[in-house]
Amino acid sequence: MKTIHIYLFGLGNVGSTFIDQILESQSYFKNHHQLVLKIVGLANSRRVYTISDGIGRNWLEVFKKDSRTRENDAFYKFAQYYDVPRIAVDATASAALSLFYPELLQHGFHIATANKIANTLSQDFYDQLRVLLKKNELQFKYETNVGAGLPIVKTIHDLVHSGEQIYQVNGVFSGSLGYIFNRFSQEDQPFSTIVLDALKYGYTEPDPREDLSGNDVARKLLVLAREAGLQLEWNDIAIETLVPENLNASDINHFINNIEQLDTYFEELKNQLNPNEVWRHLGQLNLKEKTLKVSLQIVDADSPAGQLQGSDGFFEIYSQSYATHPLIIKGAGAGKEVTARGLLGDVVQIAKTAHQVALIPS
Ligand SMILES: NC(=O)c1ccc[n+]([C@@H]2O[C@H](COP(=O)([O-])OP(=O)(O)OC[C@H]3O[C@@H](n4cnc5c(N)ncnc54)[C@H](OP(=O)(O)O)[C@@H]3O)[C@@H](O)[C@H]2O)c1
Repeated sequence: MKTIHIYLFGLGNVGSTFIDQILESQSYFKNHHQLVLKIVGLANSRRVYTISDGIGRNWLEVFKKDSRTRENDAFYKFAQYYDVPRIAVDATASAALSLFYPELLQHGFHIATANKIANTLSQDFYDQLRVLLKKNELQFKYETNVGAGLPIVKTIHDLVHSGEQIYQVNGVFSGSLGYIFNRFSQEDQPFSTIVLDALKYGYTEPDPREDLSGNDVARKLLVLAREAGLQLEWNDIAIETLVPENLNASDINHFINNIEQLDTYFEELKNQLNPNEVWRHLGQLNLKEKTLKVSLQIVDADSPAGQLQGSDGFFEIYSQSYATHPLIIKGAGAGKEVTARGLLGDVVQIAKTAHQVALIPS
């Protein structure tokens, strides 16, 4: 039986669901993988908690009662006494935490992340992480960066590593925007009501402007482009934003309180539709031409993108072997359950092959 220590950053929608999923599957991991997955560290942006026996079902109560003010090195100090493999799990959308990954790697933590930021900072930072991973023989998994729990990153990775040339990846990259525009095209509801519902159900990013601005889809395109081997920067992406400037510059509370300002513009968009047409938010990655484009487009309601339901994501991969009949991946592309399960899949993959850690001599 191999014990793994998990240190979880982020206790929101995805983080708390991840905890529930780990706790309820303990005997499965023991029986099928000979793994004991212990969550020994919890942190949100303000507080931190560590426990060597691993948290139990009363974790939230205990965290509220016994956590202490967050210090950046709290997990290192704790981890140095245990020679079991350690995995840092990032279920935040924090840029500050992403900048902290090199330090985590230097302290022997493998990383599994739902947070897209580390993979979409500069190409230099991206490369620096890969150098550190190699040097420290650590693993970094980020399947949920694109398509939540759908196997997109892995598919691109496997195609590239089998020598396949990928030409294009197109589709509805955002389950949140999929949900918003599916409902918007079908229902007689103000745009703002639908966005607020998406936020309430945990489909959008913590700040929905990250989705509406096109930035979240742009990040996903960049993650895939780099996974396919392109060296690109954020400024190389053509992004059509759906957030007017006055609402973009303010804080999140101002945005939420004034979200009805979006309704007139979107009503006008709806009026442009002919019968049998719908709006879809699309991402287009052309690897031959090295172009990345995020835009809102009118499509036929009976086209593959037009037929999507709920928070479905939809990805078409065109490559050497899939030149005329693309490889299609489709399914729930947002939501805390599928995302947490994808993150857990990454953790199990790391755990199965991770080695003991040498203790740092005191
Ligand atoms: N929800 C989805 O469907 C979905 C799908 C795919 C990917 N994701 C990704 O999953 C991540 C989490 O999403 P979510 O919906 O769970 O967000 P959320 O509910 O807003 O939770 C975010 C959590 O992160 C914590 N946090 C923020 N900065 C931190 C820091 N520096 N250190 C430690 N904790 C910090 C927050 O703590 P405080 O409460 O103290 O601020 C909060 O607990 C995001 O990167 C998102 O892109 C989500």
